[in-house]
Order: sequence, then C-alpha cells, then structure tokens
Amino acid sequence: MNRSFRNLTTRQAVGCLTVGTVFVALWTFAAAGFLPKWIYYAGYDVVLTAWWLRSAMQLWAKLPTRNARGKFVFWTYAAIFLAAMPMTDWLLPDAGATRTERFFVKSLLVLAAGIAITLIYSLLYKNKPKMRKKIVAGNWKMNTLPAEGVELAKGVVAGRSEVCSCVNFIVCPPFTHLSEVAAALKGSDIELGAQNCAAEAKGAYTGEVAASMIAALGCKYVILGHSERRQYYGETSETLNKKMAQAYANGLTPIYCVGENLAEREAGKHFDVVKAQIEEVVYNLTAEQFKNLVIAYEPVWAIGTGKTATADQAQEIHAHIRKVLTAKFGAVAEDCPILYGGSCKPSNAAEIFAKQDVDGGLIGGAALKAEDFLAIGKGFSK
Ligand code: 13P
Repeated sequence: MNRSFRNLTTRQAVGCLTVGTVFVALWTFAAAGFLPKWIYYAGYDVVLTAWWLRSAMQLWAKLPTRNARGKFVFWTYAAIFLAAMPMTDWLLPDAGATRTERFFVKSLLVLAAGIAITLIYSLLYKNKPKMRKKIVAGNWKMNTLPAEGVELAKGVVAGRSEVCSCVNFIVCPPFTHLSEVAAALKGSDIELGAQNCAAEAKGAYTGEVAASMIAALGCKYVILGHSERRQYYGETSETLNKKMAQAYANGLTPIYCVGENLAEREAGKHFDVVKAQIEEVVYNLTAEQFKNLVIAYEPVWAIGTGKTATADQAQEIHAHIRKVLTAKFGAVAEDCPILYGGSCKPSNAAEIFAKQDVDGGLIGGAALKAEDFLAIGKGFSK
C-alpha cells in the first residue's frame, strides 16, 4: 500500500473528512458532558494509536528498507510503544492522574523511545560498510576493433590487483569481440557481459544475437533497456520483458537500465518515469529471478554529456528505486545492486559511490581506458 493524502481521490478525501468530523464532534460533546465520559477518554487513545500507527508505517516503508536493520528499529520501537502502556501506570500509580496526564506521559515515552532508537541505530550502523555487491561495469558501446578490445581487456587484467578485490569488474564489449575478450580475461576475476540480446530464442531473425549465444561465449551479464536502445531502436517494455526472459532462460544476469531524459527531469517526472520502467518490466520477474538482477540508473541527460548527476541526486533516485523494488519484492530488494551511469569518471566516482544506495557504476566513455576504468573502481572506500 502506497497512499499519501495528496493521492486521495475526492471520494476518499470526503470520507476522511466525514470520519474526522464525526470523531471531533463526538469528542467535543463528550468533553462537554453531553455524552459518556469514556468516549472522551477513548478519543485520546485513538489519536495516540493512529499517530503511532502512521509513524510506524512510515518508518517501515522508509527505513533502509525491511532488512535486519529496519526490522531492528521497527520492532524495538513497537516493543517500547507497547511497554509505554504498563509503564505509564507504573510511573503514574496514582489512580487520580487524569487521562490528559496519562496521554502526555505515553506520548513522551514514545518520543523518548524514538530518540533513543535513532541514537542507538546511528551508533551501531554509522560507518558500517554496505553489504551489497560493489560493481563497476564497462559498457564499451560501439567502440574498439577486436584487437583494440583485447588490448583494453588485457590492460584491465594487468592493473586489477591495484584495486580492492571487493570490487566486481565487468566488461561489456561489442558482440564481435566477446570470444577474444573472454580469452583475454581468462584466469582473472573480471567478468564478461554483452550489451544486448535478442527477444527470441532462435530462428529466422536476421542480424540478431541470441542470449544462448552470448552465454556460450562466456558472458555472465547482459545490459538490457539501455536508453540508447530505447531511443534509437524503439525498445519497449514489451520487448524488454521478452529479452529478460531470454536472459534468465540462459543463466545470464540482466543489468536493467532505467533513467529519465532532460525534459522529464525538468518537469519533475523522473521519479515516475523510473518507477514505470521498473513496474513494466522488473515487476514481472519471479522472486527467484529478481535475486539475480542488477539495476543501472542512467539519466539520459548525463550520458556522454560530461554532465553528471550530483551525488545527492543519485542517492535520492537510487533510494526511490530501492523503495519501488521493495514494494514488490520485500526485504531482498536491499541486496539488489543499483549502479549509477552517466559521465561517471575517476574524479567523481568516489563521491557518488559513497552514497548509501549507490552500489557502483555503469561506465561508458571512461571504460575505454583501462587506467580510468580501474581508477573508478578505486572510488569505493573499502
Ligand atoms: P558515459 O559514461 O559515457 O556517460 O556513458 C554512460 C553509459 O551510457 C553507460 O551505459
């Protein structure tokens, strides 16, 4: 359920107002002595419980999702709230204490619990490393001849040991080089990906390359839904659903790209655009398939333009993406790597990768120089 008051229909809003008005009227009449006093007392508990429920729901939806940390905070808060009831009686044993006094003591206890848990949470989890896979993937696009690609791959292999082994490097050359690049990567931990695959398994589809073919050449990943494919080759969610199915049927992990264009960003539609791109494709995956998925957020206005999203802009939308994933897949969304792509380079990688929901990058231009590509990997603080 993802409703906010801004999204209520007129009927729902009228309903809320009516219930609210009846509640306030009953409460006022009871306070004035025209109705039994218990209605007046119960009113306090209704308000307190509704307030707590709303905060709890927000907490549940917003915290770094429903992982172990989120559950820890949520259930501790819930336990303290429940304990606040008997604790109030213990703190105010005098039966003469009014309902108003009890209401304020309960509210203070709940507030204090919130502050205490926030403090414990930040002490426990501050500087803790992210547990998700750290990924730096190079999308070579339509660049390099086969021999140049092999040179590039060898360069990456040669400098790999200078970067933390905690970083997973992936290179995605053009189809024509996959075989030779696979050979150049042999013996290293650098993985291979393709930039696309066909929507069909095999047959009379001139010029297409099947997922089974790229898997046979040693690919572990396939980039799907890149904005250039959506824009220049008319790829729709319908096609992408088929491509995703082919990728999974052949044991490949899709790197599914989402992102808004400049007009959409300027119109403030970016959150809705990526949400729709996820709902139309990723929501069709099974829970098992979802465990093998990488998402890449690439704002079209930042691709190849030298304009990078700021680290805060990236974090904001990555957190939104994770929330959209959590709404469908629950706690496992916490483990899904979400990469940033768009003019990512050695000079800005560290700041972007430091953000809580950014798990690496999908790199275009800077992946064409082994030195730069590796230096981006160094952007991860250990
Ligand atoms: P640039 O890094 O060249 O901006 O490209 C990003 C990209 O599209 C990667 O898929």
